[in-house]
Amino acid sequence: MYTMNAKEYDEKVMNGFFKKVYPVIASQIVERTQITEGKCVDLGGGPGMLGISLAKITNLQVTVYDLMQECVKLVAKNSLENGVSHKVNAMQGRAEEMSFEDNSIDLVASRGSVFFWEDQPKGLSEVYRIIKPGGWAYIGGGFGTAELLKEVNEQRSADPEWKEKRKHRMKKNPPEHFVAILKELEIEGVVEWSEEGTWIIFQKPKTDNS
Ligand SMILES: C[S@@+](CC[C@H](N)C(=O)[O-])C[C@H]1O[C@@H](n2cnc3c(N)ncnc32)[C@H](O)[C@@H]1O
Repeated sequence: MYTMNAKEYDEKVMNGFFKKVYPVIASQIVERTQITEGKCVDLGGGPGMLGISLAKITNLQVTVYDLMQECVKLVAKNSLENGVSHKVNAMQGRAEEMSFEDNSIDLVASRGSVFFWEDQPKGLSEVYRIIKPGGWAYIGGGFGTAELLKEVNEQRSADPEWKEKRKHRMKKNPPEHFVAILKELEIEGVVEWSEEGTWIIFQKPKTDNS
């Protein structure tokens, strides 16, 4: 079971080392998917800065959905501080068993979480289930650009364990691992890999009415 100190993560990481990363990734997601309105889930969003960054540049209504109950309060604080509390809410729950209805969400965005899911195929099939036909998933982990990754690495140079842990996670979750899961689930999508990160990207096929 995943554990972290959510308050410390919020202060030191989300609003510290990684602060610049979320707006960059949010812009990349919007550019790629062209989704700017409707419902968005920031899955495994922790204290919520990816979802908040998406809410700042779109008309999306964002639900930050995370395993840890503590994140609900932290999302409320961060969305208030960022002036988007009317567009962002938070719920506690697991990726593998989400409480959203079938075909109800326009965009599922998720950063830095899939690597920790206990059952990745189940989580990804849940993502597919809740997305509307024509909706998108953008799931993985990364730092936006190679330059931002370099900056984060420099800031975290005092903590060699961090680099090692990331290397270990990437080794355990190579792109072909996610390609195989998509194939097994019969989801048509791509897995994009670069130094910056790994992203699983797919659009649920449109139906005649969508
Ligand atoms: C490294 S943090 C990343 C947080 C945030 N998305 C970010 O980019 O900074 C991983 C997050 O995934 C959440 N998580 C881990 N396993 C999960 C699961 N099975 N379902 C939902 N959330 C999960 C954790 O609670 C944690 O908030």
